[in-house]
Amino acid sequence: MRKTLIAGNWKMNLDLEEGMDLIQSLVNQITPDDLSKCDVLVCPQMPLIAPLSDIAGSIKLGAQDCGAANAGAFTGDTSPSLLASLGCDYVIVGHSERRVGRLEDSGLIRSKTAAAHASGLTAIVCVGESENERDEGKAELVVASQLAASIPPGSNPDNLVVAYEPVWAIGTGKTASEAEVQEMHETIRDQLVDLLGDASKIRILYGGSVKADNAVALLALKDVDGALVGGAALKPDSFLPIIRAAG
Ligand code: PGA
Repeated sequence: MRKTLIAGNWKMNLDLEEGMDLIQSLVNQITPDDLSKCDVLVCPQMPLIAPLSDIAGSIKLGAQDCGAANAGAFTGDTSPSLLASLGCDYVIVGHSERRVGRLEDSGLIRSKTAAAHASGLTAIVCVGESENERDEGKAELVVASQLAASIPPGSNPDNLVVAYEPVWAIGTGKTASEAEVQEMHETIRDQLVDLLGDASKIRILYGGSVKADNAVALLALKDVDGALVGGAALKPDSFLPIIRAAG
């Protein structure tokens, strides 16, 4: 049994007051019944992690990136063990806004994932094809090569979550069809079995314009174990219905 994970990626949005208000409102409205059906995670900007961890209650916290080492001369990087000590359980690595926008390759993402694992964090490793790659029929090939090169040995259901996020669906309002999503998730699961052995318990999230009105159908798909939500995670009114779609 894979427990659904509903993760909000706040990206570079929300200041301290807005972040505190949003998490407080989620804490007030999320019920034990909701949490029996899914884990709820929010990933704010780095400086908000410590203040939010004081009030997050049963909501899990994650970072949006981390360094590939634990300490040292790495200006601008954030140590995964520092994140863990501040109350993070998860870290997103390899989001397309970093793969494409910051030219991070899968080798670096694998190092970050390994560093996250060494600090006891669960890494949410993102993979996904561009619109051109899908149009050219290369979506599965691209995702498979990203996945193989991004996952370090020692990955297991406790320290790894995979997020399939077609780049063309992120922030665009376009979602992959249910058939496309299920097909890709099944392919990813088969590949995880090849790479890691038993992958039946590894959670595979879908991300890309997940909203209240498509969440029920997406979360009902056999190999979809949760959602990575951007825009709709920034307000309780749009995030809560996605949490309630799990179950
Ligand atoms: P979106 O973002 O829900 O705004 O499309 C998803 C993501 O980038 O993780």
